[in-house]
Parts: sequence; structure tokens; C-alpha cells
Amino acid sequence: MIMPGKRKKRPWLRPQRAEPVTRIYPLGAPSGAWTATEGGGAEGLTRRLNAAQVDALDAAVGATEGRVATDMTAADFGAPILSAFMDAVRWDLMAGRGAVLISGIDLDRYGLEGFKRLHFGLGAHLGTAIEQSGRHDRIGYVHKEPSPELRGYLSDTELGPHTDYHELLSLASVVAAREGGVSGFVSSAAVYAAIHAERLDLLEALLEGYYYPTSLESVTDYKVPSFSVIDGRVALYNYVIFISQAAEIRGEKVPARLVEALRYLFKVVARPELMLRFTMQPGEIVFWHNFRVMHSRTGFRNEPGRERLLLRLWLNAHESLPMAKGFLEIGQLLDRQHREGWSMLVNTPESLRAAYELIAG
Ligand SMILES: [Fe+2]
Repeated sequence: MIMPGKRKKRPWLRPQRAEPVTRIYPLGAPSGAWTATEGGGAEGLTRRLNAAQVDALDAAVGATEGRVATDMTAADFGAPILSAFMDAVRWDLMAGRGAVLISGIDLDRYGLEGFKRLHFGLGAHLGTAIEQSGRHDRIGYVHKEPSPELRGYLSDTELGPHTDYHELLSLASVVAAREGGVSGFVSSAAVYAAIHAERLDLLEALLEGYYYPTSLESVTDYKVPSFSVIDGRVALYNYVIFISQAAEIRGEKVPARLVEALRYLFKVVARPELMLRFTMQPGEIVFWHNFRVMHSRTGFRNEPGRERLLLRLWLNAHESLPMAKGFLEIGQLLDRQHREGWSMLVNTPESLRAAYELIAG
């Protein structure tokens, strides 16, 4: 539905197109939009290591035996065949679909410590791993454990589609749940295309955005847009908890128009035709661009002797996409807080409820 109106023409608001939403941005266009099936689904995101690449990984894991995983550099996993592979992964993240699932690694060959070195060493080709909490952890454990701050990655509950805080993210599967823990990826550009085609009026609120917290008591002095569109490159920052917290700090309600737009956005991202679902198997590693691809996870159930575990990296990319102010700045603020041993990533039942109500109504 397009709302008629006299609003100012802006270059990024092109006239509505008649084609089906899923064809607006063909693969290879700067936005890199894709759908759950277009581009081959999960298989289309997969890069399967060949025997020579696995041999090079074996050699690197062996040569780094006994060293601390977070000391790994790109050079430690820098055989030409691995560097070329990670160049291809970087292209996928920055200019392709924004996500890559690496398969073909036999976890049993390396054990947990060897796998951690491998994961960290490959990640070092793409960016600098930073601390993920006040605990100074540069390899995060995504699993179920008591969390006073109610952090989602330490729970077993469903995590709906969202973005995190840094440009590149990675998960490496160690133990898969017998039930649940299904990952979901949605192309930010496909979401943009759908809203562009269906509710141009709401797109304006998302392009305007809202303030983001800079601490537990302060917010940015500028608005961070939900969508950044620069040179045809679409990026999405969609962390509703921050928006809700910022409104509370400012002592006001989130603007009604933005609430309406966010609710619409969440309806779009939940569409099965847009969300690509896959379940990571032990030894698989996924890298993705946090602002080009939203991520989600279904709830899971542990059982005795089988507790789901993934290793996580947050990476400040060696080379960044052009994005609106705030997309990288909020992550840099978090980096500083975590170096100082504290974090504004603190949830309470009330703050989670406020965020939920904001998007669910
Ligand atoms: Fe997340």
C-alpha cells in the first residue's frame, strides 16, 4: 500500500515498482538482496572446504599447538590457499549476500582448543576480534548459563530477528541441540525492498531512526537510522531494546510513526519467503555482516551430556562499508565499555517487556 502525499522527494525514495518484491534487487546489484530460496537457500550460502584447504587448516592447527586461541593472527592461518579462501569469504560478506556458511571441518580432528584457534585465526583475516562483555571475552560462549543481565546468547529461549552491534559476526558450532536452535538469516536489502514497495510512508520513519543509548543514563545527540542507504548499499540497524532504552532515558515515548514502522518491519522479516533457516552442525562456521543480514534463533532444549555450544566472534572489519553515523559508533562505545570492564548491555524483565511491547503492541 502506498500512501499518497506531498512529501519531499528524496533520491532514495524511488517510485513504487510493479514487479514482485523478491525481484526488485537482483543478485549482484549493490544491495545484494536475496530471499529464502533465491540464490540457492542455505546451499547458496555454503562454501565447502576442499581437501587441500582442509590440509592447510590441519597444518596451521598443528603448528599453533599449545598457543592461546586469542593470540592467533591471520598469518598463523595464512597459507596462500587459506588467504584466498578468506578473500572470497570477505567478498561474500561485503559485496555478495552478506553471509557465508563454511562446512567441511571435522571438529574431532582438532578438539575444542584447536577449533578455537582455527576459528579465531580465520576470523583474523576479516577483522579485529573485540571483547564481548565486561569479562573481556574475545571468544564468546553461546550457550545456556545463568545471566543476571538477561543476555539472550546465554539463554535457551527464542531470539527473534535482530542485529547485534559490530560489523562482522561469526559463530562456530561445537555442540548442536538435539531439538531446536535453528538459525535464521534475512537479507536487510530484501526487507528494505519489501517496505519500499509496500509502505513507502513508513520507510521515511525508518530512514530517520531514533536516538541510541551511549550508557545507562545517556543517549546519542543524533538519530541512528534503522536503514542506511549509501550508494545503493542497504544496511539495517535493528536493535529495538536500544531504541526502547533510549526513549526511557530521554523520558519520552518512541515516536508513534517509528513504532508503526518497526512493527511493520518485524512483520516483514518474519515472512517465511524472506527468512532462510538452517541448523549449524558441529564444525560448521558462519560469518555474516551484521547490518546486511538480520539473524535469529529458535529456542532449544539441552539434555544431560548434550548442551548446545557455539563459539562467537565480534569483529571490527578491516574494511568497512559506508554506513550512516551510529552503525559503527555504537559498537565502538561498547568496545570502550568492555575494555573498562562494564557494559550498557544490561537487560531487566521490565526493559525486555518494554521492547517486546514496542514491537508487538
Ligand atoms: Fe544476536
